[in-house]
Amino acid sequence: MQTILTEDTNIAAALIRAGEVVAFPTETVYGLGANIFDEAAIQRIFQAKGRPSDNPLIAHIGRLEEVTLLAKVVPKMAQQLIERFFPGPLTLVLPKQPTISLLATAGLDTIGIRMPRHAVAQRFLQACGMPLVAPSANLSGKPSPTTWQAVQADLEGRIACILQGEQAEVGLESTVVDCSREAPVLLRAGALTLEELQAVVPTTRRLQSVNNEPVRSPGMKYKHYSPHARVEIVTDMNSLSPPANAAFIGLRAPNASFTRVQRCRNLSEYAHLLFWFFRACDEARVEVIYCEAVEERGLGLALMDRIKRAAHQ
Ligand code: TXA
Ligand code: MG
Repeated sequence: MQTILTEDTNIAAALIRAGEVVAFPTETVYGLGANIFDEAAIQRIFQAKGRPSDNPLIAHIGRLEEVTLLAKVVPKMAQQLIERFFPGPLTLVLPKQPTISLLATAGLDTIGIRMPRHAVAQRFLQACGMPLVAPSANLSGKPSPTTWQAVQADLEGRIACILQGEQAEVGLESTVVDCSREAPVLLRAGALTLEELQAVVPTTRRLQSVNNEPVRSPGMKYKHYSPHARVEIVTDMNSLSPPANAAFIGLRAPNASFTRVQRCRNLSEYAHLLFWFFRACDEARVEVIYCEAVEERGLGLALMDRIKRAAHQ
């Protein structure tokens, strides 16, 4: 299959309406979209990514009104979060409408809903005219793509089109919050912080892993975000002794010698560059990537979640 590269949202939307899958930019990471009402197209997403079929997809909307097309009920807590944070890097898990295919939700009776704030994503979704299911546009097991070139490296020849945009602003996937029960539960940390959520709905809490409880966010059980290189977490900047072919990313300058160093001005820049850096290091055949640990607060919670997964912790 030839993969069309375009900046034209109308060309990309026409392909979606013809039942194809299309990668598109959002503010978090690039997504791989398909018409939520077309089961054959949804199937193509799982094929293209090599994604296990028990991992549910997020529905992306271009208009707020579409929430009720997807969700059977919108409890007050969800309404409050929508009013404050849509459009943005937030996915809300809500009871699904019976019209939504179980293929999209991996058999669950809930659906994740997100409205990206990225201008190109909004124009594209509106041109499609229906919600799209979209996982991150990487091969399963690879870091999420933050540039169209990273999408191309993974999926060229496997998908119909890449809608080209700039490097994703946030660089980490959306915050996933389950609003299908009594109080909001954070299933995946992301750009929107727990503290920001709690400022709107104070009862919002982190997921406690309880024995025997079925996994509430199936995606979180998979090994994600791993580069080929080994990832080491740096908690003591004074005891670095890297081997010959090693790279470093963090906030402070390391006082050891690395083949590649990425210093970030702040947490946002660290998040913005992390997945891109993983891929760049793999291309340069770096063997070990040292990531400076940060405090697990604010954006640091999502950043450390992704770094720990990459380090298989
Ligand atoms: O930022 C993002 O969320 C990106 C962009 C493209 O929007 N998308 C993304 O999708 O990261 P994906 O498929 O790579 O990750 C979706 C996550 C998985 O961990 C999945 O298990 C969880 O959301 N999820 C989706 N639907 C769910 C549901 N109904 N219940 C619980 N977890 C759900
Ligand atoms: Mg993903």
